[in-house]
Amino acid sequence: MSDKKKILVIQNIHEEGINLLKKNTDYKYEIIENIDYEILKKKIVDCDGLSIRTAKLPADIIDLGKKLKIISRHGVGYDNIDLNSSKKNNITISITATANAVAVAEHVMFMLLSISKGKSMYDENVKSGKFNERNKLPKTIEMWKKNILIFGFGRIGQKLIKRCLGFEMNVFIYDPFVDENTIASFGGKKIEDLKSTVKYIDAISIHMPLNDETKNMINLDLMKQMKKNCIIINAARGGIINENDLNEALNKNYIYGAGLDVFEDEPPKSDNPLLKNDKVFLSPHTAAFTKECMERMGKETIQNIIDFFDKKLEKSKIVKN
Ligand SMILES: NC(=O)c1ccc[n+]([C@@H]2O[C@H](COP(=O)([O-])OP(=O)(O)OC[C@H]3O[C@@H](n4cnc5c(N)ncnc54)[C@H](O)[C@@H]3O)[C@@H](O)[C@H]2O)c1
Repeated sequence: MSDKKKILVIQNIHEEGINLLKKNTDYKYEIIENIDYEILKKKIVDCDGLSIRTAKLPADIIDLGKKLKIISRHGVGYDNIDLNSSKKNNITISITATANAVAVAEHVMFMLLSISKGKSMYDENVKSGKFNERNKLPKTIEMWKKNILIFGFGRIGQKLIKRCLGFEMNVFIYDPFVDENTIASFGGKKIEDLKSTVKYIDAISIHMPLNDETKNMINLDLMKQMKKNCIIINAARGGIINENDLNEALNKNYIYGAGLDVFEDEPPKSDNPLLKNDKVFLSPHTAAFTKECMERMGKETIQNIIDFFDKKLEKSKIVKN
C-alpha cells in the first residue's frame, strides 16, 4: 500500500501549484473540478489534506475526513469553511496570506477610478463618432485631495493606503484592532466614531472580515449621513453592506456610486436590483484574478500544505481558530 499523502484539490488552481505536487514524491493528488457533495463525501474519507477555493465546506463533509489534517484555502477569507468542525477534528486551516493583497488593492483603485471617471463613457463617445459632443458629457471627479475611509487595516488595507497616498488622497482608517501610531506610520489617521466621520468622506473601501459585528455595518442609517458625492467600494465580503439599503441610498442620491466585487449571494440573484442600477460598477468576485496573483495563490495554496506536513508552516498563514 502506498504511504503517499493524498491531497484533494477541490476546484482547480494554477498549474504551477499543481506542479509542486507533481514533482514531490511524498504526495498523490486528485483534482475535483465541479463540486458534487455526494462525490466529495466519498473522496474526503481517505485524504490527508485538501485545498479549496470559494466552495462551501460544511461540517457534515469535514467530519467525514478522518485522516484530514489540513484545509488550505486558496485566498484569505475562510468564511466558506465550517470552523467548529475543523476545530473539533483538530484540522489546521491555512490561507494564502502573502498572495493577493496587491491585486485586491489595485482592483479597488480600478473601481474607484472607473466610477469617478464615468466608467466607459469616454470610450463609447469616441467609438460612436461623437467626439465633437464631448462638452455635453457629464464631468468626471478627481481623487486628488479627497478623503477616503478604509474599513479594516490588515494586509489589503495596508496596500491600499499606499495607492491612495500616491493619488495624494487623505486617508482615514476605521479598525478598532490597530493602534493610532501604526496607522500614522503608514500616513493614515485613525478614526473611531463612524457617524461623525462619514459626513466629510468622499470614498469608502471595505477590507475587514464578514462576521456578526460587521454584517450590515454599512446600512441606510449610515449612508444617510454620508456626502452625496461618496463612492463606496466593497471587495471584502457581501453582507457587510446591506444591498437593499445600498440600492435605496443610490436611488435617493444619498451617495454617488458603488463598486461591488462581492455579494450577499454569489452569484447575485437575477432579481437583485443592483444588477440594473447604473450607479453601481460590478465584478464577479475577481479582485484577485490577475494572472500574477492566480499563479501566486496557486503556488502558495499547495506550498502551505507541503510546509504543514514538513512542520514549517508560518504562523501568519494559519487561521487562529
Ligand atoms: N474580493 C476578493 O477577491 C478578496 C480577496 C482577498 C480578500 N478578500 C476579503 O478582504 C477582507 C480583508 O482581507 P485582508 O487580507 O486584508 O484581511 P486581514 O485579516 O489582513 O485584515 C482584516 C482587518 O480587518 C480588521 N477588522 C476586524 N474586524 C473589524 C471591525 N469590526 N471593524 C473594522 N476593522 C475590523 C482587522 O483588525 C484587520 O486589521 C477579508 O474579508 C477577505 O475575505 C476579498
